[in-house]
Amino acid sequence: MSEQEIPLDEIPAFDEEMWADGPPYEFFKRLRSECPVHFTADMLDFPDEPGFWSLTKAEDLRTVSRDWETFSSERGGILAATGALPLELMQSMFIAMDPPKHDRLKALFQRGFTPKRIAMHEDEIRQIVREELDKLDGQETCEIVHDIAQPVVARVICGFMGIADEDVLIWSDLINTILAANDPDVNPEGLQSIMERDMPLVFEKAQALVNARRENPTEDLTSVLVHAEVDGEKLEDHEIIMGFFLLMAAGNDSTKSTFSSAVRALLEHPDQKAKLLANMDLVPSTVEESLRMFPAFAHFRRTATKDTVINGQEIKEGDKVVMWYIGAGRDEDEFERADEFDVERNPTHQSFGAGGRHFCLGSALARLELKILLEETFSRYPEMELDGTPTHVVSGFVNQLKALPVTLGPRAS
Ligand code: HEM
Repeated sequence: MSEQEIPLDEIPAFDEEMWADGPPYEFFKRLRSECPVHFTADMLDFPDEPGFWSLTKAEDLRTVSRDWETFSSERGGILAATGALPLELMQSMFIAMDPPKHDRLKALFQRGFTPKRIAMHEDEIRQIVREELDKLDGQETCEIVHDIAQPVVARVICGFMGIADEDVLIWSDLINTILAANDPDVNPEGLQSIMERDMPLVFEKAQALVNARRENPTEDLTSVLVHAEVDGEKLEDHEIIMGFFLLMAAGNDSTKSTFSSAVRALLEHPDQKAKLLANMDLVPSTVEESLRMFPAFAHFRRTATKDTVINGQEIKEGDKVVMWYIGAGRDEDEFERADEFDVERNPTHQSFGAGGRHFCLGSALARLELKILLEETFSRYPEMELDGTPTHVVSGFVNQLKALPVTLGPRAS
């Protein structure tokens, strides 16, 4: 039975088969038109958990995202399946806190992400991208995710945080395993090993870095956080460490996902690639269009703090409300030809969040990285083509290619 034929109330949004080749966009299209506030009762791998409401219209995401008093990030965490990461662990990161706790921490972390500070890193990021591309010299093929996207984003975020070059690989492996914990290829040992082995290692390594910066301040973000004060108070170590983990997780995975999806889309749409190559000023617009069509995070979740109504549907206090960015990004009421990848569109989208308190802290950094990655990759390899079938991480949370094999074509001078 195809996604088109299955009755809506029988479709659990976390059926792994449905996500094997990436997000089931056709299913989300049906939700938008037939049932924009949809209830999934069956939690499959998490049978003890209550089901959740799915929102797929941009307007509904805006409503929920902007009203933190009615829709809490803290109460049940930010994932549709609460049990995917222990709630207390999630709640120790400011992404899963409500004001005023959230605002105090975010304001401090924002000091590391001012536009000026980000712009200062432009030359460094371009240098990193060029060095990684140089490693492909002499090769006819490559695999975009592991050969370009992964090392670049890992080096950039690790540089920001002050992690030594020799530790970059260890950190990025750790974070990838934790975020794709349910994918047996990425994490064959299963969820248990994340809590017993991987998270303790994250804490230990982050604590060592915090201790080092306390003794010897430097210019990196970890040092900024260790020495920063809000209202005369310093951050506690556990606040720094959990924020550190949040940045490493968000910074590693998401930009990698969007770059890989953008490359895939360009290679699958040679007319769009040709347009871009003819006018590289379209890179920023291509970045926004890739963010719109392939949001790196499929969803974030809120929990209703009181009985309320969304788009005519009654929601009870305590209900889970899931904002599907992969649905809203293709909302026909928001975008003409919503399913078409158009490098000239330069859309306003919700893939960094639909407004409100939790809007992405790293959006300026992500945009800069994506711009440089696309500029450098396609000006060097304009004749790049797909070389086999791309594969996806099986996840209803991260929207990420596992492998994207390509032929590079001749290197342009
Ligand atoms: C393409 C890249 C990225 C995408 C699509 C993305 C997406 C998002 C989204 C949708 C949210 C909102 C979460 C919510 O409403 O509950 C968010 C929050 C956040 N992002 Fe990003 N992100 C990206 C890159 C980054 C980078 C590079 C960093 C840091 C280095 C980062 C750090 C954060 C943090 C710390 C938050 C939490 C903000 C808060 O709760 O106030 N993100 N991101």
